[in-house]
Amino acid sequence: MDLEQIKKEAENSISLIKNTSDLEKWRIKYLGRKSALSLFFNSLSKLSLIEKKKQGQKANAIRQLLLSLHKEKRADIENNSSFSSNFIDITQPGEKIYQGHLHPLSLTLSDITDSFQKMGFSIIEGPEMETEYYNFDALNIPASHPAREMWDTLWIKPKMLLRTHTSPMQVRFMETHQPPFRIIVPGKCFRYEATDASHEIQFHQVEGLMVGENINLSNFKAIIEEVVKDILKHKVLVRFRPSYFPFVSPGVEVDIKLKQETRNKKQDTNKWLEIMGAGMVHPDLFKRAGYVTNRWQGFAFGLGVERIAMIKYHIDDIRLFFSSDIRFLEQF
Ligand code: FA5
Repeated sequence: MDLEQIKKEAENSISLIKNTSDLEKWRIKYLGRKSALSLFFNSLSKLSLIEKKKQGQKANAIRQLLLSLHKEKRADIENNSSFSSNFIDITQPGEKIYQGHLHPLSLTLSDITDSFQKMGFSIIEGPEMETEYYNFDALNIPASHPAREMWDTLWIKPKMLLRTHTSPMQVRFMETHQPPFRIIVPGKCFRYEATDASHEIQFHQVEGLMVGENINLSNFKAIIEEVVKDILKHKVLVRFRPSYFPFVSPGVEVDIKLKQETRNKKQDTNKWLEIMGAGMVHPDLFKRAGYVTNRWQGFAFGLGVERIAMIKYHIDDIRLFFSSDIRFLEQF
């Protein structure tokens, strides 16, 4: 190959190169020890002195040219690759960011509190760790009373327990407030009992207490019917049954069930679900609070939040709420 040919071929082929490995192959082919150019240099020794000088200068000029082409190309490739690694394609769709959301119980609880607030109830909170006195004795349930059996208890130490219901807050609130008032007390409760589809060891109640001069059971019935319809969008029937709690007289229980037309036949039961215990506040509690005798009357209730959520979202097992199963939680 003569020098002009080597030059032409090298120039043409380097113009097509786009990466360093091809460039290295090019360097070996045109500038390496076995390249045509090197062989040409080796062959110079056979020439006359004058011819050697002439051809040597020509070959050297081509070598210099190829070296500078190589240098330029390398710089070119390096610039391009740093450009591509820094390049941000602003037209590419973004990565989807996983967003969390409120737990179905938080959603239900806020529906419940909103509804009561619309009716003028204030929200009060109380301690989850409670004394035996407020959880039981002050509610007419002394240690000897068989009603204690209704609340299987997780004891922390003697006389200290995890509250089994939100009712202790009735006593705590009345000790420091004079009627009239209407409050709700949302919060966690704990019971040492076997779990099943409608019972957990940890659950939420919303305690309610409304005391005034002429508050009666009809007021209770009207308010509860209104709130239940508001939360569950008129999809349920409400039933009131006589019951017994030592801190109310008379006592009632409230059940709900989905109306026939709103029931998902495969998923929802046709059975009544108990959602709260309630009644007219027992005079003993007013006496303990130091209220003037026979002036005040009122109602109290303890509503189970999980049971409302079960009806609202068509959930057939209460244990799902605390199972931390993402497949369950993602549905809300
Ligand atoms: C009580 O806890 C009374 N303190 C209610 C009360 C308040 C009566 C004020 C009178 C005046 P009961 O144990 O029935 O009552 O519980 C009330 C509601 O809490 C039940 O209707 C149910 O909805 C819910 N509940 C009770 N135990 C559990 C449990 N283990 N798991 C889930 N929800 C429960």
